[in-house]
Amino acid sequence: MTETLTITRPDDWHVHLRDGEMLQAVARYTARQFTRAIVMPNLTPPVTTSAMAAAYRERILAALDEGQDFTPLMTCYLTDNADPDDMAHGFEAGIYTAAKLYPAGATTNSDSGVTDVANIKGALARMADIGMPLLVHGEVTDAEIDIFDREKVFIERILQPLIEELPHLRVVFEHITTENAVGFVKSAGPNVAATITAHHLHINRNAMFEGGIRPHAYCLPIAKREHHRQALRKAATSGSPKFFLGTDSAPHEVEAKESACGCAGIFSAPHALESYLKVFEEEDAIDKFEGFASFHGPDFYRLPRNSDTITLTRKPNQVVEGLAAAGTVVVPFHAGDTINWEFAA
Ligand code: DOR
Ligand code: ZN
Repeated sequence: MTETLTITRPDDWHVHLRDGEMLQAVARYTARQFTRAIVMPNLTPPVTTSAMAAAYRERILAALDEGQDFTPLMTCYLTDNADPDDMAHGFEAGIYTAAKLYPAGATTNSDSGVTDVANIKGALARMADIGMPLLVHGEVTDAEIDIFDREKVFIERILQPLIEELPHLRVVFEHITTENAVGFVKSAGPNVAATITAHHLHINRNAMFEGGIRPHAYCLPIAKREHHRQALRKAATSGSPKFFLGTDSAPHEVEAKESACGCAGIFSAPHALESYLKVFEEEDAIDKFEGFASFHGPDFYRLPRNSDTITLTRKPNQVVEGLAAAGTVVVPFHAGDTINWEFAA
């Protein structure tokens, strides 16, 4: 039995670091485990210009603990008024790594998102030309579509036609949750990949209703049926370069989660690697972990792989019930549970 595992240092290809006091509290957890992270732009107000992204990057760097060596990779929040020139400038100047498509109203702070992909065709065509990746929150927002079907319908109505129209556009289908998304990504060309969260590998939709309503298991896209979770586990541990690590760690204050209208988001940053590794171990695929965590992401983004290593040790690791943040508490994924791996900083 493997007692320690040493791999090339991983990156997180999808994280919410927030701003202000919350950023001060949470940035350290991501920087502790990862060398780089794709930072989501859904702040209030959203990060819509290259100047805002450059300023946000400085705030992230200032929030790190002494000695932490971490590179935030910034993203542009697409709106109906996205400016292709500023996006191209930001990408070519190394400020932006990618741009994020939030369908308006799909999730937290997505009100300024895109109301119709037709409105950003100019920006998307420019992105395809310059090789700037498009990161997609793949859910339709129509109230009449069942929440558990929104990813599947998004593929049919939006993503498939978009890729047919712009076959060279580089697309990361973010935090996929269905076997439909797995199948779509596998059948698409090498310019289409996906991130998979740790929580969607661990929980199915029952987790939200175990003995009562469980707000800490609520995220978007919402966890689906068990057969979808099994398809995600198979994809993540398959060794396919199309699937890579993206935690979607999304901290909310405990009061905002445990509420009559609780926010979507699971804060997985503190034990992200241990959580993923548990899945790879359960799937008897520890040999595939380094590819998923450390190689497939940078290869897709055309960035160098990291050169240093990290080590995880097999030992009982009790996850705390809550972490201090922004004058209150944030509840981490696996709170109160024991994971059988520990990351040593
Ligand atoms: O669960 C989620 N939380 N999904 C998202 O897409 C956004 C995120 C957040 O920002 O809280
Ligand atoms: Zn997210």
